[in-house]
Amino acid sequence: MFGDPIKHSQSPFIHTQFAKQTQQILNYEARLVPAEQFENSVNDFFSQGGKGINCTVPLKEMAWKFTDHNTERANQSKAVNTLIKQDNGEIIGDNTDGVGLLNDLKDNHQIDIKQRRVLILGAGGATRGILAPLLARSPDCLTIANRTVSKAEGLASEFGGQKGLQGCGFEDLHGLQFDLIINATSASLSGDLPPLPNGILSEQGDCYDLAYAKKATAFVKWGRQQNAQKSVDGLGMLVEQAAEAFFLWRGVKPETKAVIALLEEQRLG
Ligand code: ATR
Repeated sequence: MFGDPIKHSQSPFIHTQFAKQTQQILNYEARLVPAEQFENSVNDFFSQGGKGINCTVPLKEMAWKFTDHNTERANQSKAVNTLIKQDNGEIIGDNTDGVGLLNDLKDNHQIDIKQRRVLILGAGGATRGILAPLLARSPDCLTIANRTVSKAEGLASEFGGQKGLQGCGFEDLHGLQFDLIINATSASLSGDLPPLPNGILSEQGDCYDLAYAKKATAFVKWGRQQNAQKSVDGLGMLVEQAAEAFFLWRGVKPETKAVIALLEEQRLG
């Protein structure tokens, strides 16, 4: 895994667990790669026989531009979190974040998207990565709210033509109600919350924070205060996106639930 910072990365642990479980021989490590060294580091890694790389913040957009060929879902998100070296030497870029979120919502939390009113907070790279997969699950409507309104509107029109997709500012949310609110701002980890009106979450509504931390994030806490049916963070998404990457490299889909349980144990301990 290439990233900057990498200090708290759980990816080596997760992939080592997957390898054990599927009896694969794998050496996965986190490497600190500053943006300006990205291209050289990728080239060195593959020329030394490396088979695949995960890229994290702030390298995902760079990785998307670097590859010979990207999958459709990577092109939709304009970001790549998984690089795969093929037998013919070509480097393919993919993005497993969106499917990681969908799998976590559906399989680990039983949170529905279909016909629900969905609100995404934030309009940066994280939102771009999950928009197409969420829209493919037929929400009743999907609203993107952002501090910088033009970015939310820009994303909505870029993915335009989709019924019920719109971008707005936080102040435009007054009087509206949603069944699923997803936090994709980078504010939650530093304890900041976008200003959200009371009553915005419907009675059976759920909250999901793409970020995860040792303790409940500000957004997860907010969801609990709003009596959300479920208010959870993105630990499961982290494991699910890793499982998809592992599958791309190794052709076997690892079991995720046991690994999520281990990480949950670690964070309680
Ligand atoms: P990422 O790749 O994690 O999405 P990003 O592209 O820098 O990172 O986007 C960060 C998002 O968090 C943006 O939507 C940003 O809002 P702006 O576009 O207005 O900058 C949002 N964000 C960051 N800090 C925030 C805060 N304190 N309150 C509300 N939104 C915040």
